[in-house]
Amino acid sequence: MSDIAKLQIGENSYEFPLIKGTENEVAIDVKTLRNATNGVITIDPGYKNTGSCVSGITFLDGEKGILRYRGYSIEELAEKADFLEVAYLLIFGNLPTSEQLEKFHSDIKSNSVVDDDVKKIVDAFPKTAHPMGVLSSLTSALTAFNPSSVDVDSEEDMYNSVVKIMGKFPVLVAWTMRKKQGLPLNYGSKNLGYVENIMKMMFEQPNEDYVINPIIKNALDKLLILHADHEQNCSTSTVRIAGSSHVGLFASLSTGISALWGPLHGGANQAVLEMLEAIRQDGGDTKKYMAKAKDKSDPFRLMGFGHRVYKNFDPRAKIIKKAAEEVLNDLGINDPILEIAKGLSEEALSDPYFVDRKLYPNVDFYSGIIYRAMGIPVEMFTVMFALGRLPGWIAQWKEMRTNKEPIGRPRQIYNGENLRSFIPLDKR
Ligand code: ACO
Repeated sequence: MSDIAKLQIGENSYEFPLIKGTENEVAIDVKTLRNATNGVITIDPGYKNTGSCVSGITFLDGEKGILRYRGYSIEELAEKADFLEVAYLLIFGNLPTSEQLEKFHSDIKSNSVVDDDVKKIVDAFPKTAHPMGVLSSLTSALTAFNPSSVDVDSEEDMYNSVVKIMGKFPVLVAWTMRKKQGLPLNYGSKNLGYVENIMKMMFEQPNEDYVINPIIKNALDKLLILHADHEQNCSTSTVRIAGSSHVGLFASLSTGISALWGPLHGGANQAVLEMLEAIRQDGGDTKKYMAKAKDKSDPFRLMGFGHRVYKNFDPRAKIIKKAAEEVLNDLGINDPILEIAKGLSEEALSDPYFVDRKLYPNVDFYSGIIYRAMGIPVEMFTVMFALGRLPGWIAQWKEMRTNKEPIGRPRQIYNGENLRSFIPLDKR
């Protein structure tokens, strides 16, 4: 293949270099297009064909169902690593040595206290507030309590802001849930691991010692790893584009949380469980809901199905399906929702509508079943996703700032009124 792309516009022809990634993905580099063509731009709503950056963090091949963080397959990481190791890998590029991991964890623990005044903000939210809105606000508010700006050229500065947010974010996550449940806002313990501390902070009752259930701990570790990064998805692109204005890390992360909240993105895990529950309450007739999903006059979509990038099985869904079965089995829970999920998935995988459109179960199809078995309220599911995605957002923000990427500012084609004269109010 030649390493240039040719473009013909009317009489004029232009050449643009091709960029090839380490996995042989090819892009046309159109950086010079607008200048060379005197104002012509590309248009691509939803960025289905547009690369926004060159990144060395996550590789995914949607056709083949491959997902790798920094070169390691998601299957191997989910089986052999823990969440903190994966966080380190994503953010700093390599798996940590035991000394690096120990230091990382110890620095995170030293930073896992939140200014007590943040509790006043938590208290000011109504109990009915959705936890994603609360989490986004609290994350943004962290900037006010930790105002020092980060010198992105200083590795030490970068490292300090990473351990700060890795320490404080789980506290905020736990507080959003406990506020809704009327439980005291608590802290973790220096003696526990990162994921164990998350569990303690979320589930500890004021009148009893919290005992870690290893089945739940392992499942949570796996879920967080599977959600940790997914290259340039909606929330990550939001974090990168907000950060490209040089706003700080915490403010950038808070925009990502808002983007993740939507039901077409991270909010799908809540929507899936609500859908499965509605089907159960309606008598469990999966065929009725399959028909609704295929009916173009019905806005209903089969939540947890389809993906912008995966046109094959989402590799994370395969791992989660197995984990969901194991967790329910190990905990001795017989959840009818799992049977409905399996039924829907089997029907969809042999239905021409879904097969032709390459719609497969995505990561969110089974994750809610595990969260439910863990005793996590449905409204917190997307918050759990945010907790897992945190290292990915941090890694992508850090990469964008370290690479000195320009401010994100897309162009548009204007298609509105041409110049017209103002008509005074009394003449309209
Ligand atoms: N149920 C029924 N039909 C669907 C579904 C679905 N879940 N998903 C896509 N389709 C259909 C569309 O109606 C469209 O059909 P058409 O070609 O006849 O018009 C075709 O499949 C392509 O769909 P698009 O919406 O164009 O695909 P896109 O890549 O823009 O959207 C998305 C991907 C948003 C994930 C979509 O599949 C969806 O809404 N899924 C349900 C929500 C969901 O599970 N989101 C979580 C995604 S994973 C994540 O963010 C972590």
